[in-house]
Amino acid sequence: MNAPTMQGLNLNAPSHVKNARLLAWVADMAALCKPESIYWCDGSQQEYDRLCQQLVDAGTFKKLNPAKRPGSYLAWSDPSDVARVEDRTYICSAAKEDAGPTNNWMAPAEMRATLQPLFDGCMKGRTMYVVPFSMGPLGSPIAHIGIELSDSPYVAVNMKIMTRMGKAVYDVLGVDGEFVPCVHTVGAPLAAGEQDVSWPCNKTKYIVHYPETREIWSYGSGYGGNALLGKKCFALRIASTMGRDQGWLAEHMLILGVSNPEGKKYHVAAAFPSACGKTNFSMLVPPDAFSGWKVTTIGDDIAWIKPQADGSLRAINPEAGYFGVAPGTNTLTNPNCMASLDKDVIFTNVALTDDGDVWWEGMEKDTGGQPAHLIDWQGKDWTPEIAKQTGAKAAHPNARFTVAATNNPALDDAWDDPKGVKIDAFIFGGRRSTTVPLVTEARNWTEGVYMAATMGSETTAAAFGQQGVVRRDPFAMLPFMGYNMSDYFQHWLTLGEKLAASGATQPRIYTTNWFRKDEAGKFVWPGYGENMRVLKWMIDRLEGKATGEETMFGVAPAYAEINWSGLDFSAAQFNTVTSIDKAAWAEELKLHTTHFEQLAYHLPQALLDTKAAIEKRLAA
Ligand code: GTP
Ligand code: SPV
Ligand code: MN
Repeated sequence: MNAPTMQGLNLNAPSHVKNARLLAWVADMAALCKPESIYWCDGSQQEYDRLCQQLVDAGTFKKLNPAKRPGSYLAWSDPSDVARVEDRTYICSAAKEDAGPTNNWMAPAEMRATLQPLFDGCMKGRTMYVVPFSMGPLGSPIAHIGIELSDSPYVAVNMKIMTRMGKAVYDVLGVDGEFVPCVHTVGAPLAAGEQDVSWPCNKTKYIVHYPETREIWSYGSGYGGNALLGKKCFALRIASTMGRDQGWLAEHMLILGVSNPEGKKYHVAAAFPSACGKTNFSMLVPPDAFSGWKVTTIGDDIAWIKPQADGSLRAINPEAGYFGVAPGTNTLTNPNCMASLDKDVIFTNVALTDDGDVWWEGMEKDTGGQPAHLIDWQGKDWTPEIAKQTGAKAAHPNARFTVAATNNPALDDAWDDPKGVKIDAFIFGGRRSTTVPLVTEARNWTEGVYMAATMGSETTAAAFGQQGVVRRDPFAMLPFMGYNMSDYFQHWLTLGEKLAASGATQPRIYTTNWFRKDEAGKFVWPGYGENMRVLKWMIDRLEGKATGEETMFGVAPAYAEINWSGLDFSAAQFNTVTSIDKAAWAEELKLHTTHFEQLAYHLPQALLDTKAAIEKRLAA
């Protein structure tokens, strides 16, 4: 042990930690946050088990019945700390224009002055965990390292599942390697002798990014993307700015492999907004009629995509686990996901059954109806009668599971390949009750970028705030962009030009909408595994086997081009999910106009031209 001391606190750095910048930073942060002790995570199973036991003893975790759910735990958060806080999330670039109109911004110096008093002594009475992690396979040329300092053991154990976390990271980091410093506090210092609560957090919250210096500072929340800083903060917001500077993409996309009966395999990356079906689609089980077809998961939430010398795009999943939405998941909607959750899971904000297992809305299909009694996510008694009377949910709508990718029976063989997989198609899909058709193929890259740039989606419980209102969510990246949105559109257009110039085939670009509703407010498209029918049409397009039909917005399938075998879905129903209502689209284009007005600074002319062409077709 080398042992520089900071105001009487021993840094306790293990001898294998040799990175000078890291040691100095930890010392600085310890001096600022004033934890009681510092613990350097090694990422071992013993450490994980020990920290989980500690969380059980502290009342944060309940150990689930090992006969039902081996190796698994349940945490209930504070009711005020249940989702990402977009209005408290900041991009503090030197220039306001570089954060752009879609981000909260504060000048770096002003933000540092704001955070200084909040972080001063913020970890008093707590342990500061030093969590070393790699986003992407250790040592891969596409991977990057982060170090998270957190006063939450819940964060440390979640990071063990969600990233390649542990001692080996220091070997890659070496004496002078680069890392993204991420500091996180729940913002709840403990006075001497003060009893802790099961989910410490603070009413005041700040999720702050300094893109120029590649730093992340998170204050006041212990939940999900607010606290597991490798995920949205690093792998999307900071990484998107790295991608801008270095010519690659960091996207809110799942990555899947799809193989046909002849064994030909394609890779698809799909951007759907939060809680709009990425995990589901990435683990899709094809319907019986698709015998010989297979879908395998590379990633369920984030893709890092780098152009290669041959003009191809190769993608990796920077994560090592899934932090997925529990409600709505069952063996009918997502059997692979349910199988992934058999053991070694951390559940957050689902309900507890009387026999020590978990339950959430949507599971009634698996459990033969609602259980007679549960303890809900707020620790209260729940019965079907109470639910009927009060509308109380057993699980919070943004309740989640944390589980290792290796638990997924549909995991792709190449999920961990440092080279990544070659992308053949992109999909952008929002959640829209009306207007947007089931599937469309862009006629060219620019039209695809237009579709992605103007995508709208109804808001979900994944973010704190109002639900179900349509907002523009370009590329499903609205809450995750680390720089000016219009510059990001240009980055995509420039990449397309580069790929075209290389002579390689550009990936096709599609849009989807699984969520159109009928007059009774019910989803018309069956979704889930049945989405395979749409995926197959896309593959047919890639292979030149489907001609499709020209629409105002691109190419759409004819009813007869979809394989309907084993599904009762009439041409009339198909029309309900694919028809283009000209009046609704006239209104929609007005929203595009407003959207583009907001993004006027640096908005690429090509997108305005594309819009004009669509308006002309609409008027014709
Ligand atoms: P994040 O982790 O927040 O980024 O979300 P995600 O995009 O991975 O969302 P996920 O796959 O977890 O889906 C969230 C919700 O969408 C669940 O309640 C699902 O039941 C529902 N959902 C997923 N796929 C479909 C579909 O094809 N049709 C319908 N109607 N609902 C779906
Ligand atoms: C999302 O909201 O898109 C998520 C969950 O994937 S969180 O990690 O909390 O951001
Ligand atoms: Mn997500």
